[in-house]
Amino acid sequence: MQHATQVRLTREILAHLDARTTAQAADIMYHATSAYDSPQRLQLEKQLLFRKYPLLMGLSGQLAGPGDYLTDSFSGIPIIVVRDGEGTVRAFLNVCRHRGARLVEGCGHAGRAFNCPYHGWSYSLQGKLMGIPDRKSFAGMDKDGRGLTELPATERDGLIWVIPDPGQDRTLDVDAFLGGMAPELASYGLANYHHHETRILRRKLNWKIVIDTFLEPYHFGVLHADTVGPIFVPNLCLFEAFGPHLRETLPRRTIEGLRGTPEAEWDLIPHSALVYVLFPNTVLVMQIDHVETWRIFPAADKVDECVMYLDFFIPEPAETESAKQHWDRNMELTIRTVNDEDFPIGEGIQAGFASKAQTEIVFGRNEPALAHFERSVNEAVAVGQ
Ligand code: FES
Repeated sequence: MQHATQVRLTREILAHLDARTTAQAADIMYHATSAYDSPQRLQLEKQLLFRKYPLLMGLSGQLAGPGDYLTDSFSGIPIIVVRDGEGTVRAFLNVCRHRGARLVEGCGHAGRAFNCPYHGWSYSLQGKLMGIPDRKSFAGMDKDGRGLTELPATERDGLIWVIPDPGQDRTLDVDAFLGGMAPELASYGLANYHHHETRILRRKLNWKIVIDTFLEPYHFGVLHADTVGPIFVPNLCLFEAFGPHLRETLPRRTIEGLRGTPEAEWDLIPHSALVYVLFPNTVLVMQIDHVETWRIFPAADKVDECVMYLDFFIPEPAETESAKQHWDRNMELTIRTVNDEDFPIGEGIQAGFASKAQTEIVFGRNEPALAHFERSVNEAVAVGQ
């Protein structure tokens, strides 16, 4: 983040602390509960948000060298993302062109080719069909036309993006997509971070409730009184929109220590958590010394279930036992706070929607990031109707 931006945000936070205020939305927002429990709404979200939008697939460090790959099928489309022999990140449907078997699972290193586990067809890292056992039995088949189906993909400033729809234009303009946020993300040097751990979590709540839980600190002093509540200033956040994306700034209590120090020396990062929503389904959190990404998907066709990847990235590989324990403790605090405190509340909310106790909920003016995210989903879905 540019230093001038850090100073501007820090000044705003200190002014809010003095005035006992927080960033405010223009109005209260009333939000229909059908956004969270309508099957028709979920189908629109799946068709539009999880097919047509660039989705974050990971950070560059997860594909460190040629042949490294990862797979992802939670969007409903089976995807391989691989770094080819020339260093370019490519994405393909994870579907063999013979009879459709899945080529690889999980993540790993493919060497120079993907070999189908069913009958042994092989594909180069650029998706070209290379080898066919008993070739003569396929004489006359257009071999060049049976390469892997490629998806629009790009790597930019340490972030890997894929559009899951093979019918989309091949060009993927991340700078335009990010609505002005790209230079700020670039400033973090995300390409230099190392992947520490991935957890896959499944919970019984709509995918958007997971994102909602990151988007206001109004609840910190109550729900998180014994975890992160003592670390952060409750009910104080800053909010800035970048098209449908957003940045929410959550100040740590230590920010008071910047008072009386020269602005030229101010560093906001150690005194905050910076929460970015990379619309539609990723929450990227810049913590003091590490980065978390939460990538959240609806589970199958269920309005009230979701599945998510929590990925933990660190500045240096954890090569000693003490370093590993340090990062494991960080991971556990994150899990304990969100999985053990936020998500049970979210599951209760989801069950409450099913009871039809109310048809709308309300976002206060002190929850501007939350209102922006839900309004952005409303608008994106309305465009597709
Ligand atoms: S399905 Fe892949 S080789 Fe037959």
